[in-house]
Amino acid sequence: MSATLVTVSYVGAAILFILSLGGLSHPESSRRGNVYGIIGMIIAVIATVAGPNVTASGYPWIIAAMVVGATIGLYAARVVKMTQMPELVAIMHSLVGLAAVLVGFANYIDPAASAHYHGAEKTIHEIEIYIGILIGAVTFSGSVIAFGKLSAKISGKPVLLPGRHLINLAGLLIVIWFGARFVGSASIPAGMFALIVMTVIALAFGVHMVMAIGGADMPVVVSMLNSYSGWAAAATGFMLSNDLLIVTGALVGSSGAILSYIMCRAMNRHFLAVIAGGFGTEGGTPAAGGGAAAGEVFPISAPETADLLRNAKNVIIVPGYGMAVAQAQHTVYEITKYLRDNGVKVRFGIHPVAGRMPGHMNVLLAEAKVPYDIVLEMDEINEDFPDTDVAMVIGANDIVNPAALEDPSSPIAGMPVLEVWHAKTSIVMKRSMASGYAGVDNPLFYKENNRMLFGDAKKMLEEVFVALKG
Ligand code: TAP
Repeated sequence: MSATLVTVSYVGAAILFILSLGGLSHPESSRRGNVYGIIGMIIAVIATVAGPNVTASGYPWIIAAMVVGATIGLYAARVVKMTQMPELVAIMHSLVGLAAVLVGFANYIDPAASAHYHGAEKTIHEIEIYIGILIGAVTFSGSVIAFGKLSAKISGKPVLLPGRHLINLAGLLIVIWFGARFVGSASIPAGMFALIVMTVIALAFGVHMVMAIGGADMPVVVSMLNSYSGWAAAATGFMLSNDLLIVTGALVGSSGAILSYIMCRAMNRHFLAVIAGGFGTEGGTPAAGGGAAAGEVFPISAPETADLLRNAKNVIIVPGYGMAVAQAQHTVYEITKYLRDNGVKVRFGIHPVAGRMPGHMNVLLAEAKVPYDIVLEMDEINEDFPDTDVAMVIGANDIVNPAALEDPSSPIAGMPVLEVWHAKTSIVMKRSMASGYAGVDNPLFYKENNRMLFGDAKKMLEEVFVALKG
């Protein structure tokens, strides 16, 4: 394939990636967005492999790598549960970071890759390598720690070293100092020492940065690492002089940055404050899960819940992580359909950080064929709770916690929440009094107009459905 054809293919792929991002912005067009992305990626891979930069001796390696990668990808796609997606995404981000590091080192030691650079061009190329490895190493180690935290292999509690900001600052200064030495280095071994020291510091910084972030702020970390992985890919593109990789990396990097901003706004956090770490450290009432309950709760049975729903005019359903765990979305749909067929107005209230990844609830509800027009964002529905007869909370906890608004010492203080307690009756469906992701007690459970329907969300909803029909 000629260089011109490769360029044309790259432009086509870049346009498809942009259309893909546009499509993914709404559930209705997301399937189309995915198809654009897949076609764009196929074009990108074919153009790169058939392009002038790959020689015939490279084909066996590329084919072997693609077979291994595709096998792992297919296996992961089949076995990873929807609730494990965030940790899968985190570990995949780490691979982008690792690739940037390895490409950077390979590029530096391969004489053929840099022999044709002289003067200012050589300096720019070395800066690309240095920054590429720096971003890649931070992304790699940060994503591995995020994977550990999201999969509960590492505690979600923030680890705050004394003088952590000073440690970070010292690390940054050392990285800059070695950067200056690297760029001017006379030989590869001399430059290699600076590169290795910087990589070790960057790896340590990635670990330190994510370890310091409290459990409640993990959504921001996930989207932030998403952004970093994009910049790492763009840096790899600069190192390899691959325009498509630069464009694609920039698209991922900037969309991840926008997502981080949206997440921060949804949680009423300042981005820099989250990165500096330490949220979720002190204050807040610990969960009542293991110890004595912090008040009286009023349990309710499935038939009583069915009665309340049958006699309601307005119902708002608030799904959370527990609905995903129980895979209760199809039963939720059955109940919604039944109630709507019987004249009850049913809508859904979706918190921006419900579940464990952006759009988690929207994906599940779309899968269960819940109509999009009754699925509303938190801001669109929060004022309607006072006119609502029943607010049904399905496996959600932190996103309906009034302490976020009422207790300034709570780790989730300031996070806007769905104010279900303003409804005539709220029903919380969960298995126990255990806390949610942020690990704090929820005063909603003890409110007089709140009822607790204890049990697995799917099982309880099936019982409610049977009682409704009966
Ligand atoms: P959580 O606060 O984590 O609460 C989920 C609740 O579901 C738990 O209290 C649990 O109580 C219940 N549950 C679990 N399995 C269940 C089952 N089979 N049946 C019924 N209930 C079940 O979830 P949320 O309200 O959706 O809030 C999301 C939290 O995750 C926030 O703190 C957010 O910051 C964080 N987070 C979000 C993201 C994104 S991007 N969305 C990413 C990382 C972290 P029981 O054990 O008593 O059943």
